[in-house]
Amino acid sequence: MAEVPTSLVLRRPDDWHVHLRDGAMLRAVLPATARTFARAIVMPNLRPPVTSVDAAEAYRSRILEALPEGISFEPLMTAYLTDDLDPDELARGFAQDVFRAAKLYPANATTNSAAGVSDLSKISSVLTCMEAIDMPLLIHGEVTDPDVDVFDREALFIERHLKPLRQRHPQLRIVLEHITTEESATYIREAYQSGDDRIAATITPHHLHLNRNAMFMGGLRSDFYCLPVVKRECHRRALVKAATSGLPCFFLGTDSAPHPRSGKESACGCAGIFNALHALESYAAVFEQASALDQLEGFASEHGPRFYGLPLNADTVTLVRRQQSVPARLTPPRFACLGDDALPDSEWPLLFHAGEALEWTAEFH
Ligand code: NCD
Ligand code: ZN
Repeated sequence: MAEVPTSLVLRRPDDWHVHLRDGAMLRAVLPATARTFARAIVMPNLRPPVTSVDAAEAYRSRILEALPEGISFEPLMTAYLTDDLDPDELARGFAQDVFRAAKLYPANATTNSAAGVSDLSKISSVLTCMEAIDMPLLIHGEVTDPDVDVFDREALFIERHLKPLRQRHPQLRIVLEHITTEESATYIREAYQSGDDRIAATITPHHLHLNRNAMFMGGLRSDFYCLPVVKRECHRRALVKAATSGLPCFFLGTDSAPHPRSGKESACGCAGIFNALHALESYAAVFEQASALDQLEGFASEHGPRFYGLPLNADTVTLVRRQQSVPARLTPPRFACLGDDALPDSEWPLLFHAGEALEWTAEFH
């Protein structure tokens, strides 16, 4: 029988999908991401969304200002695609290394997506431009048709939109974000196995841990509500298989998405799970359960940078087999509470795995 490791030294990972928000929430949640991840793809769904090079540069400066001293962290900015975004603006931001990618939110698919794309045909010149300059397109892959069952929206997106899109733009580099279904995992794997290395997918810790029962356990649990919504157990298993497969087309993206408590504890609760604080330990639990700890480094630290054409990180983090209990709430640094937009204690986000024990603890150098 293989020996059980007591510690694991990993190349420092990156988070290829995170919501850092702005203002007091940014100051509260950024340290959790920055202490673990060397870089992160920062989602642009602010209010108003990040649709210009100037707005992305200003947002990047606010992130760097909020960074605790002594922590190295590089925010990789993204553009929010709208029906009328100018391809030249996108190309200029990409050439200047301000925009690393552009995010496609189908209009009204999720949090702050009202300004998203109403029809893919509206952005065909943008997609042609992105294909020509090899700028990654990051996709929230759900149809928004209200007649389609919410649990079927991702699978239908592949058939209705993704397959035709890839026929029209075969060279476009695409990340299907936060996949939640067996259909998506199979689609991405088959593309890779047929020799197509221009499409990949991120997988979140919560979609690896939860099935849809979590949202209804003992009552309506908005803390387990995110988009795309968690699916049946067979889908969770398919995602675990994909994440732990060692295939380079699957990599880490937490989709950590904090909301103030009043936003979650509402008759119409917001979608989003805040998992940044224990993300690496959470993934480690899944990989260990699948007897695949040896695949964690590839998933967390190697496949993402290779897909984005960026160097691998040189520094490391150590995961130690030491149990930790996860507190209910984030306790942000005091400075998060200062300023006009202060976040009262009662609004601090609940942590993913709140009240549970995790077997691994990340140590940072
Ligand atoms: C995200 C958010 O809150 O910004 N919510 C979520 O449930 N994942 C938006 C998104 O990525 O869909
Ligand atoms: Zn997201």
